[in-house]
Amino acid sequence: AELSNILRQMPKAELHMHIEGSLEPELIFALAERNGVSLKYASVDELRRAYAFKDLQSFLDIYYAGASVLLTEQDFYDMTWAYLQRAHADNVRHSELFFDPQTHTERGVDFGTVVNGIYRATQDAQEKWGLSASLIMCFLRHLSEEEAFATLELALPYRDKIIGIGLDSSELGHPPEKFARVFARCKDLGLHLVAHAGEEGPPEYIRTALDLLQVERIDHGVRCLEDAELTQRLARDRIPLTVCPLSNIKLRVFDQAKDHNMVQLLDAGLVVTVNSDDPAYFGGYVNENFLQMFAALPLGKDHAYRLARNSFEASFIDQPTRQKYL
Ligand code: ADE
Ligand code: ZN
Repeated sequence: AELSNILRQMPKAELHMHIEGSLEPELIFALAERNGVSLKYASVDELRRAYAFKDLQSFLDIYYAGASVLLTEQDFYDMTWAYLQRAHADNVRHSELFFDPQTHTERGVDFGTVVNGIYRATQDAQEKWGLSASLIMCFLRHLSEEEAFATLELALPYRDKIIGIGLDSSELGHPPEKFARVFARCKDLGLHLVAHAGEEGPPEYIRTALDLLQVERIDHGVRCLEDAELTQRLARDRIPLTVCPLSNIKLRVFDQAKDHNMVQLLDAGLVVTVNSDDPAYFGGYVNENFLQMFAALPLGKDHAYRLARNSFEASFIDQPTRQKYL
């Protein structure tokens, strides 16, 4: 079969996708209208034209502005359902969704409104397509440890709807150790742990995420190759990297698809996975990430299967179900 068809059709898991980053400009405008929220962009086209990022922060500013239209449980449902339809079309069988409660609770939206809307959409996807989806709550690292602890308190009544904890937002200047105590508490609660590290930040942040936060996966992690000892450790311990190629290019971590270090990461024996990060902002959902990387780099059928297999190995699906996919 044609490689592009293999990439599109192979069953896969998506492990690094911010649900607020799946909000398409059209839906942003529809929700703004529905909720009477005013935007500083006059039209869908004007908003889309603003999607020219120079780094992570320039993206985050627009991403938080986009999320400001989300107010009701139905808004969170509609956003999540739109993503799950796209994921299903891309043959995603399992998805672990990041959500950023602080982006919403800071605006006065109730924590339950956020979780219940997202969760109800995941249940409908399970029922309709057998697509399993679970939620990973992220702390915004530009906010304080105290605010992270307060958010964890808000989450406790919804513990059964959340499988894990992540760490996202502005990386530079907000090293993992800032959240060591709150991550320790989350570990005691039996939550899975992940963190963004080594996207814009140095390899040192990957090491401290492992040693001080005790994370099970690294989100991005592409800068690990600057440190040979760290790379060997990640390979030996089979710590997965949830890599997001189109994101890395849009946020200028790499200039172009052909400059991405995906092949070197795979050659180093790392458990690499391919993910879309914020697909509405970075030019495509998970299959588009696969297609563009395979078009630009010396990757073939064997790599495709390895990446799909890695996505299930690296997932937090329960062991018997995971075995089914491996
Ligand atoms: N929030 C949404 N996408 C992100 C990314 N790629 N890095 C850090 N925080 C994010
Ligand atoms: Zn991310």
